[in-house]
Amino acid sequence: MTTKICIVYHSGYGHTAKQAAAVADGAREVSGTDVSEVPVEDLSEEASPAWEKLDAAEAIVFGCPTYMACPSAGLKQFMEATSGRWMSQQWADKLAAGFTNSGSQNGDKQNTLVDIATFAAQHGMVWINLNLLPGNNSSAGSVDDLNRLGASLGAMAQSNVDEAADVVPPKADLDTARSLGERVAKCAQRWSE
Ligand SMILES: Cc1cc2nc3c(=O)[nH]c(=O)nc-3n(C[C@H](O)[C@H](O)[C@H](O)COP(=O)(O)O)c2cc1C
Repeated sequence: MTTKICIVYHSGYGHTAKQAAAVADGAREVSGTDVSEVPVEDLSEEASPAWEKLDAAEAIVFGCPTYMACPSAGLKQFMEATSGRWMSQQWADKLAAGFTNSGSQNGDKQNTLVDIATFAAQHGMVWINLNLLPGNNSSAGSVDDLNRLGASLGAMAQSNVDEAADVVPPKADLDTARSLGERVAKCAQRWSE
């Protein structure tokens, strides 16, 4: 059976879109996985056909930049638009995961992941964490390490605010995002057995 995974994301200036693409690439590495990247702009109308993709997916991965220590308004608007589905618990027992990107090393990204995970819990979704040990936390570590920002709940990335999306986020963060996508795809296959 093919498992379907949707990556729903907002990105104001393209940096988080790169992270979303890396999550999608990681999921595509798992054979038997059908991956859709869905920018929130495709979900702006209740009648948008992209909603059907989300409804049919075994797993949905949510991502956005951290703006003012929270999920960006673009993702938040999408979250609020799911309230009808929350009422009927239509997405209960789907898998969920999350990612975020910000300008600062810390930047309060944890708060964004907590918000997204709590949103998924409201929907009765089953949260998949990152499951990578922290990198760059010892004398032998480096900024090139996988999970260099040391997250557990989801994938984090950091993009210098004076650099465009063709330069940042760096490879280590994109590899971390790829790993999350692969993990979600593998979990979705087990979940569908
Ligand atoms: C309105 C706004 C608020 C922001 N707030 C934060 C923040 O709280 N923490 C942080 O580290 N970076 C913050 N940033 C920087 C963005 O997170 C960063 O530039 C990110 O790469 C933007 O991703 P995007 O290109 O996908 O929109 C903010 C940027 C904007 C435009």
